[in-house]
Formats: sequence, structure tokens, C-alpha cells
Amino acid sequence: MLDAYAGTLDVHTIHLFALRWIHFIAGVIWIGHLYFFNFVNANFAKTLDADGKRKVVPQLMPRALFWFRWGAMFTFLSGWGYAFWKVFLATDAGLFGVGGLLNSVWGLWITLGGVLGTIMWFNVWFIIWPAQQKLIRWTKNGETPAEAAALTKRAFMASRLNTYLSVPLLFCMGAASHFPSFSLPTVILAFVIGCGLVWVFCNKIGPKAGADFK
Ligand code: HEM
Repeated sequence: MLDAYAGTLDVHTIHLFALRWIHFIAGVIWIGHLYFFNFVNANFAKTLDADGKRKVVPQLMPRALFWFRWGAMFTFLSGWGYAFWKVFLATDAGLFGVGGLLNSVWGLWITLGGVLGTIMWFNVWFIIWPAQQKLIRWTKNGETPAEAAALTKRAFMASRLNTYLSVPLLFCMGAASHFPSFSLPTVILAFVIGCGLVWVFCNKIGPKAGADFK
């Protein structure tokens, strides 16, 4: 019975749905590139010599980082835009009202996921991208300044941290509307399983996957 699922198509519903759609598209673009960097490119880059790096890096990285950083920006803005539109404009739930951001199962999962996403967004825009801008320029010019190694490590750590946080974050996003409760043991379990999965992908499967194609 289709009618059982029918709701009203008012201005809030349309606006929230548009934001939600943008959020999914941008999220896929962002996290898709994050996984490409961590599961594929980190292993591929190890196979390149200095000459190969000078050819590949200035062509590949600026293109991939464009989609990566703008995906992060649109995910961040549409996500918080959705949350605030929903609790402050579409309803008067606010932060602590009935169904509010800090007073509902939905809101608690979104707040936790949103905080993780905000840390990740910060890492993209204020650590990874500024570091990569310098690293790409140096690679293009064949330069290896003293600070290159430290900067590479900094960008790598921020990117790896984002990869670890992304899986618990996705649990939070999905749990908001599809999990019946919010509790510390569930959060801990989501982190343990999520981070464990990423560890296996990065350290066990990633280095070997597709490498021996003949
Ligand atoms: C930057 C911080 C983020 C904020 C503030 C945020 C906020 C939100 C909000 C408010 C919703 C609820 C939509 C609804 O109730 O229908 C949502 C859902 C969702 N978000 Fe995020 N989000 C963030 C990051 C991300 C990221 C990085 C991804 C990765 C792809 C993502 C993927 C999703 C998905 C798949 C849903 C749908 C869950 C469902 O309908 O079951 N979000 N997000």
C-alpha cells in the first residue's frame, strides 16, 4: 500500500531532501577519494621512482585533490545545514526540545557523526591540502627541501586518521534514522569494528590487492 508511506511535500520537506541528496553525493565523492588515496594510491606511489613521481604526481594529485577537498566542503555544509534546518527552522525542537539535536537518538548520532566529520573536514582543508600544495610543487620542480619528509608524514597521518574515523562516522550517519538507541557500548563497538576494518584494508588487503596482475 503506497499510501502508507505518503507524507506532505511542503517547503521544508523539499529543502531537507535537496540538502540530503547533496550530502550523499558530496559524501561519496569525498570518501571515495579518501579511500582511493589510502587503499590504492599509497601503495601505487611506492612503486614510482623520482622520474615517475615527477610525471604522475603533478597530473594526478591536483585533479584528485580538487574533488576530494570540495567533496569535503559540500558534505560538511550540507550536513550541518540539514541538521540546523531540521531542528531550528522546520521544527522548534532546537538543541534540547523534544526531538532536538542533543535530546533525541537521531540528534545524538548526528552530533557524534558531525563532530567526527568536522575533524575530518578540518584535516582536509587545514592540514592535507596545504601540505599537498607544497609537496606537489616540489615534486613537479624536482626539489626535495629538508621539511618535505616531515610534511609528507603530517599529511599522511591526517589522511590515515580520516580513513579510520570515516567508518565509525558512517555508522553514526546510518544509526541516526535506523538504530533504535544511542549508548556508549554501541559507540565503542562501532569504533572497534570500524577501525579494525580500516586496519585490515590498509595493512593487509591494500598492499597486495591487484598488485600481482599478470
Ligand atoms: C561533516 C559532518 C557531517 C554532518 C554534520 C552530517 C550530517 C548529517 C545529517 C544531519 C544527516 C541526517 C539526514 C536525515 O535525517 O535523513 C546525515 C545523514 C547521512 N550522512 Fe552525514 N554528515 C556529515 C558527514 C558525512 C560524511 C563524511 C558522510 C560520508 C559519506 C555522510 C554520509 C551520510 C549518509 C549516508 C547519511 C544517510 C543516513 C540514512 O539516511 O540512513 N555524512 N548526515
